[in-house]
Amino acid sequence: MKRLQGRVALVTGAGSMNGGLGNGKATAIRLAQEGAAICVLDVDLDAAEETCAIIRAEGGSAAAVAGDVTNEVQVSSAVAECLGEFGQIDILQNNVGILRAGGAMDTSVADWDLMAHVNMKAVFLPTKHVLPHFIERRYGIVTNVSSIAGQRYLGTPYIGYNATKGSIISYTRNLAAEVAPHGIRANTVLPGFIDTPMARNIIEQNTENPKQIDWEALDQQRAARIPLGRVGTPWDVANAAVFLASDEASYITGTEITVDGGVSCRV
Ligand SMILES: NC(=O)c1ccc[n+]([C@@H]2O[C@H](COP(=O)([O-])OP(=O)(O)OC[C@H]3O[C@@H](n4cnc5c(N)ncnc54)[C@H](O)[C@@H]3O)[C@@H](O)[C@H]2O)c1
Repeated sequence: MKRLQGRVALVTGAGSMNGGLGNGKATAIRLAQEGAAICVLDVDLDAAEETCAIIRAEGGSAAAVAGDVTNEVQVSSAVAECLGEFGQIDILQNNVGILRAGGAMDTSVADWDLMAHVNMKAVFLPTKHVLPHFIERRYGIVTNVSSIAGQRYLGTPYIGYNATKGSIISYTRNLAAEVAPHGIRANTVLPGFIDTPMARNIIEQNTENPKQIDWEALDQQRAARIPLGRVGTPWDVANAAVFLASDEASYITGTEITVDGGVSCRV
């Protein structure tokens, strides 16, 4: 039997930009490969449908739900839609996160507020609305996606991103302690340098001539900074999420899994 047979997962931000492969999309696909039915929640319905099509083509079950994770009304109705479609939710994977570059003096108030608004509500609101269902069933798994940047400075001033990603670690530890008596687990995944459309987009936005970026050379430079010698893939993040959602992790809560090829050991 597959590890997640009979389970239902709600994965937020599980579409991906420009048809690429992001962490949420890869996680939705991997959870489905392990037998879970997937609710793919994304602000971009076409991107969510694309992920569902991949899951269905592999023989899995998936439903696309449009919604902005920072909007409480939309989150509440997305949870209701998922419950209407599959009758239950066992796994909540909170994947949405955004980055605006900047340090302590040059980050605008607008960028600061946007990152705080999106990155913190992206874990707070879906969890808030799924928890009553988890508590009723005395079962549930919340996995939040933060970043190793939430723990330390990585050489580029991303102070708003790093601070808000750090808050996800604290939020998740508090959550885990609060809901453990109800049979619910909550953990955080800390990805390192992962090759996703979002990561490429950030590099492009912070380069004068994005069209002239030599991606191969850049990947080699980045790989040289990583002890395991390669940039991570969304599948690396997805596999950690699958483990945390499985019964193999049934005694693991309130902690973090780092998926960074060893970068944190060196910084
Ligand atoms: N890529 C990396 O190197 C890296 C490293 C560490 C952590 N992360 C984290 O991984 C997560 C996913 O990153 P990714 O690179 O896979 O992103 P991505 O851009 O490929 O995918 C994110 C998806 O989220 C959706 N989305 C954005 N805002 C939304 C909102 N308000 N409501 C609903 N959906 C929304 C987008 O439409 C998109 O489909 C983020 O939390 C990010 O901070 C990424």
